[in-house]
Amino acid sequence: MLATIISAALQGIDAQVVHVEVNAGEAGEPKLILVGLPDAAVKESDDRVFSALSNSGFKPPRTRTTINLAPGNLRKEGPFYDLPIALGILAATQQITTAQITQWMIAGELSLSGATRPVRGALAMARLARREGKRGLLLPAVSAEEAALVEGVEVYRVDSLDAAVRFLTGEQTIIPLKPAQYRLGPLPASKAGALDFSEIKGQHTLRRAVEVAVAGFHNILMIGPPGSGKSMVAKRVPSIMPPPTLDERLEILSIFSAAGRTINGELAWDCRPFRAPHHTVSDVALLGGGTIPGPGEISLAHQGVLFLDELPEFKRSALEVLRQPLEDGDVTISRSAGKVTLPCAFMLVAAMNPCPCGYLGDPKHECRCSPTQIQRYRSKISGPLLDRIDLHIEAPALSIAELRSDQLGESSQRMRERVAASRERQLTRFRSTKTTANARMTHAQIRQHCAINAALGDLLQHAMEQLSLSARAYDRILKVARTIADLAASEKIEAPHLLEAIQYRSLDRAVFY
Ligand SMILES: Nc1ncnc2c1ncn2[C@@H]1O[C@H](COP(=O)(O)OP(=O)(O)OP(=O)(O)O)[C@@H](O)[C@H]1O
Ligand SMILES: [Mg+2]
Ligand SMILES: [Zn+2]
Repeated sequence: MLATIISAALQGIDAQVVHVEVNAGEAGEPKLILVGLPDAAVKESDDRVFSALSNSGFKPPRTRTTINLAPGNLRKEGPFYDLPIALGILAATQQITTAQITQWMIAGELSLSGATRPVRGALAMARLARREGKRGLLLPAVSAEEAALVEGVEVYRVDSLDAAVRFLTGEQTIIPLKPAQYRLGPLPASKAGALDFSEIKGQHTLRRAVEVAVAGFHNILMIGPPGSGKSMVAKRVPSIMPPPTLDERLEILSIFSAAGRTINGELAWDCRPFRAPHHTVSDVALLGGGTIPGPGEISLAHQGVLFLDELPEFKRSALEVLRQPLEDGDVTISRSAGKVTLPCAFMLVAAMNPCPCGYLGDPKHECRCSPTQIQRYRSKISGPLLDRIDLHIEAPALSIAELRSDQLGESSQRMRERVAASRERQLTRFRSTKTTANARMTHAQIRQHCAINAALGDLLQHAMEQLSLSARAYDRILKVARTIADLAASEKIEAPHLLEAIQYRSLDRAVFY
């Protein structure tokens, strides 16, 4: 007899319907034939399903049985289908009778004992179930809680094969999970206060630059000697970002869900992500990919911060491939399994020393680097990448007196309030367009919203000539000036706004330091 169970396959951060067809009682010697999965996964799934069936008091099939995961051209992950395969075998061998089993979408890994284990991508699967008009989903714990964030489908948590059987046969009722909106409330004060800007001493220019960067969602590069607090500042950037909107949280969660990261509690449900991959990170881990293409660090940083510490230490190839995602806010990964596009609208925060030894320009330490060494170090960051970083800021070493002082710096909360006010202005400005922040203005929008009068135009031209700024700095300066004006609640870009923005292009200068 033929039984069909509905499940899904993850494609990037979306899911597609998969039919798990089980045909039992075929002529021939008794064995299980599983098609539609990679070879290695088939064997493992077989073993788990057989063991789970017998340990739950059921009989493994005694006839030739074919299991087909259709469509065959979709790349699938083995463990995902343990539960649907086991249920399919039970239905096909008539060990259970269930009405309308196809109104459910089912997934879950099985342990040898028959207990369920979470799978990645439950959020995408819940969205698919709703799109497909399914009544609901049967999922293991954690996956079920994730799926419950999607409204409009019922989510039933099943902890074992046995619990799934009793639910489907009507032997036992399970109360569907409530949409987990409580998780989407405001930021709890304790968490927001965990890493706070008040701990940063001195560094007024750096703090200001970071505030400007966050306000307009501009990428920023910090240049300074070891111990000047660059890493410390970077880690605190999320604490001054406005809390994500409901839509943004779902986007962030979808990505973490597809990467299987929510399963081990790696993401606080209500914070913007902060990702800091090491400079030895592989291209696949950075950009995404794998046999079943999944999100990389740049997508995990979506709507949050990607921190690249020691920027020149990254492989040049890795930095080059960042250019397109930085521009577009998404990344397309091609694999034999097909192409997927994943969102990656992150804010880049990068840090570097001014030279290989770190002490160039430091009044207290002598720099021992030769001009060639310094040149080689800088040239690792290509012009086109620098071009996509709106603000460059120098962070000098702190004086001993500053480090010893007990004075607290301004709190993240105060900074966040100013950032939020300027974001409001931007959202009003870009209403009914796709742009969400000044950094993402199109060329036409720059012309429209960053108009400066003739006097300021002369000032900018003069500054660019004096400082030998490259032509590509021009639009960057205007965008940053727009954000500075927004922070000052000014309709127009005025001279002080423009002058401050010009200062944030130190790496474009022909002479550095
Ligand atoms: N502005 C600061 N306020 C308070 N403490 C600071 C400050 N700057 C540095 N420190 C202290 O120095 C330590 C090192 O700072 P941090 O790691 O942020 O420096 P860095 O600029 O990233 O250095 P490196 O170039 O070596 O990575 C911090 O853990 C902190 O204790
Ligand atoms: Mg550091
Ligand atoms: Zn040096």
